[in-house]
Parts: sequence; C-alpha cells; structure tokens
Amino acid sequence: MTSEFRIPEKLEQLYEGKAKKVFRSSDPALLIVEYKDDATAFNGVKKAQILGKGAINNAITSRIFPLLEGEGVPTHFVVQLSEREQLVKAVHIIPVEIIVRNLAAGSFAKRLGLEEGTPLGIPVLEHCYKSDALGDPLVSRDAPVALGWCSEDDLETIRLLALRVNSVLLHFFLERGVKLVDFKLEFGKLANGQVILADEISPDTCRFWDAVTGEKLDKDRFRRDLGGVEEAYEDMLERVNR
Ligand code: TMP
Repeated sequence: MTSEFRIPEKLEQLYEGKAKKVFRSSDPALLIVEYKDDATAFNGVKKAQILGKGAINNAITSRIFPLLEGEGVPTHFVVQLSEREQLVKAVHIIPVEIIVRNLAAGSFAKRLGLEEGTPLGIPVLEHCYKSDALGDPLVSRDAPVALGWCSEDDLETIRLLALRVNSVLLHFFLERGVKLVDFKLEFGKLANGQVILADEISPDTCRFWDAVTGEKLDKDRFRRDLGGVEEAYEDMLERVNR
C-alpha cells in the first residue's frame, strides 16, 4: 500500500537569514524555506536586492539537489513548492561550512598571493566556522571535532560528500559551458544521525566562469560591482535547465 504524500501547511517563521527565511510546517520533520531577493556581501556590510534572485536560486537548487540525490548524495530537499518556496527535511545544521576549490579565486587567491584562475592539482577543501558574528572564519581540519561541532565520523562523511558533489557538478556545469571554480556547502544531521547536504547551491554560493570567455556568472558580479548581476543569474538558470 502506498500512502499519498500531503504537502504540510506553512506555519510560523522560525528564522530569517541573509538570503532565506525558514518556516515551521505542520509536519515536525519538514520545514519550508523561502528564498529572498536580498543579497549581502562582506558579512552583511554590503546590501542590495538582486531582482528575481530568490526565484532563480530556488529553481537552480531544486534542479541540482535531486540530481545529487540520484548520484548518491543524500540531501534535505523534498520538493519545490512554488517560485520561492521549497519543502526540506528538518536538520540540525552542523556549524561547519565546507568550501571546495578547483581553481584559485577569491579569499584563497588573495591569502596566498595567487592569480585568480591558477589551477589546483587536487580539489582543495577548506573548513569555516558558520558564525555571522565572527564572519565565518577559516578553521583547521581538526577544529570542528576538537570543539565538538561534529564527530570525526561526521566530518569524514562531510568531506567525502563534498568531493562527490564536486565531481558530479564539475561535469554537469562543464557540459553547460561553465567552469565550477569553487563553492560552499552546508550539512545537517537528521534526528536519526544521518548527515545530509543542506542549504543551497546557486550563483550565491558558487563561482561560475564561462568556459570559453571566462566571464563571471555568479555573485562576484555583485560583490565586485561588475554590473549585469541579474543577467548572470538568469544565464545560469537557463544553462542549468538545458
Ligand atoms: P571565498 O573565496 O570568498 O572564500 O569564497 C569561496 C566560495 O564560497 C565562493 O564560491 C563563494 C562562496 N561563499 C559563500 O557561499 N558564502 C560566503 O559567505 C562566502 C564568503 C563565500
């Protein structure tokens, strides 16, 4: 017997972040995420709206998370509910942001005095402490376990899943004429202890360069005042849907 799945009711707002709001639902195991047009950079110092960003990031994430599920990466994604809303599994967010880098760019290039675009011999994983108050500082591989943010096993799972996401997405984007330069992932823990991918994968959280022209197709257009921000997000949505 298959029981019909019913979309739960949207209840009160639990949390508002810089780019999304999170609502309780009538099913305690599920939450509703609403994507906003708000954009921030430099830990909230620079603020603006990117018209249509919420709908685009929701659509891109709603395309990519099921793709990753199909490739063996468990995620919090359940279903896209509307232009801006997504139903997701409720998790305890592990306060470690994982950055995966394929080419030197951004803070990595700056810190090491490298030209942006310098190739890296293997994907580089970085660990940051998810804390707005501290500006998500870089931490060592050992700090998350030492400070009790997650277990050694959980961190190893997170690192393996991050590398798996990278190999799936490198191929997915290259087929669409895009170099996946780097990106940030967040993970959560279900009540049963399983570690799954959470948050979003979008031009807010990735660096995308056109494979031919090198044109930036991500939030760096906003961070660096390059113009054409909305157009870049729309271009990425069109490519993801190809
Ligand atoms: P970074 O080079 O500035 O450290 O950024 C690395 C990647 O992480 C890049 O793809 C953008 C993404 N990112 C976020 O998703 N959130 C953030 O707050 C920051 C600073 C970067």
